Amino acid sequence: MIKQRIMIVGSNGMLGQRLTEYYLLQNNAEVYCTSNEDESFIPNVDYDKIDLADKKSVKKAVTKFFPDVIINAAAYTAVDKCESEKELAWKINVTGVENLIHYAKSVDAKLIHISTDYVFDGENGPYDETKIPNPISYYGRTKLASENALLTSGINYAIVRTNVLYGHAKYGRPDFVKWVVTSLRDGKEINIVDDQINNPTFLDDLVKGIDGLIKFKKTGLYNIGGKEFLNRFDFTIRIADFFDLDKSRIKRIKTADLNQPARRPLKSGLIILKAETEIGYKPHSIEESLIVMKRELGL
Ligand SMILES: NC(=O)c1ccc[n+]([C@@H]2O[C@H](COP(=O)([O-])OP(=O)(O)OC[C@H]3O[C@@H](n4cnc5c(N)ncnc54)[C@H](OP(=O)(O)O)[C@@H]3O)[C@@H](O)[C@H]2O)c1
Repeated sequence: MIKQRIMIVGSNGMLGQRLTEYYLLQNNAEVYCTSNEDESFIPNVDYDKIDLADKKSVKKAVTKFFPDVIINAAAYTAVDKCESEKELAWKINVTGVENLIHYAKSVDAKLIHISTDYVFDGENGPYDETKIPNPISYYGRTKLASENALLTSGINYAIVRTNVLYGHAKYGRPDFVKWVVTSLRDGKEINIVDDQINNPTFLDDLVKGIDGLIKFKKTGLYNIGGKEFLNRFDFTIRIADFFDLDKSRIKRIKTADLNQPARRPLKSGLIILKAETEIGYKPHSIEESLIVMKRELGL
């Protein structure tokens, strides 16, 4: 059997870890992991440290493995820091993608790039793939610029827009669900905004969606999000209900109360009809996802 050669960029990140675990289990895939740390968080994988912003580093990795598919799950994702670290954010989120495009072209690899609903202003979401972006943060601007680089690249690419990831990532910072569960169990009070609406995306669904785009040889722009649209406060209540936690400690606040450096899209979210109809994408409900997380994490 000829194996598909899959290079994962950002393999130590939240999505990258889950993608790595998924493809390691597929008999028809050969996996090459790359990220910014010295070591792979997931043991026993073919791994190299790369700096996406450095063309030579990207060239070395791509021409070592000669991938059929490159999945870019790396990014400078600290939304607020992007406002003060503009140059670094651009280097990783835009120049980095241009570097990947250059070498994907040279080895004729497909490039799957992960983007975000933060390319929108959040005035009138949810958004389908035809809506015109209008980012209101520097992070959103860099992600839109990376999409535009792909649009004009002439290579075989797919852009996956997603929003609010949750799910099991063994290493690194806890995801939103784990943070809510541990905070409430520790008796802490948590402040949650009730004016940011979107459709939170279960990591395993996103991985399946990405894999669907590869299997069905899709190109262009696809939204991959959750099944349900709700605000963050209500999402938190659903988590607390599921895990039978004290809801009185969840305090309702507004985004403006947080005084964050970067503005957030408020009425956002991604319509997933295109992925549902073209690749049979079927996300879990929130409770179904929480059942999986509870089992895996022993939460
Ligand atoms: N998380 C969300 O809710 C969300 C929502 C919408 C879209 N997205 C998009 O989904 C993708 C994955 O997000 P995520 O939450 O999994 O991100 P993440 O956990 O922050 O992981 C990003 C990974 O990229 C690596 N990286 C950063 N700079 C790099 C560089 N110069 N060269 C190589 N690797 C580098 C990071 O390494 P270090 O940790 O060492 O920097 C990290 O391992 C991103 O494109 C993000 O924009 C995420």
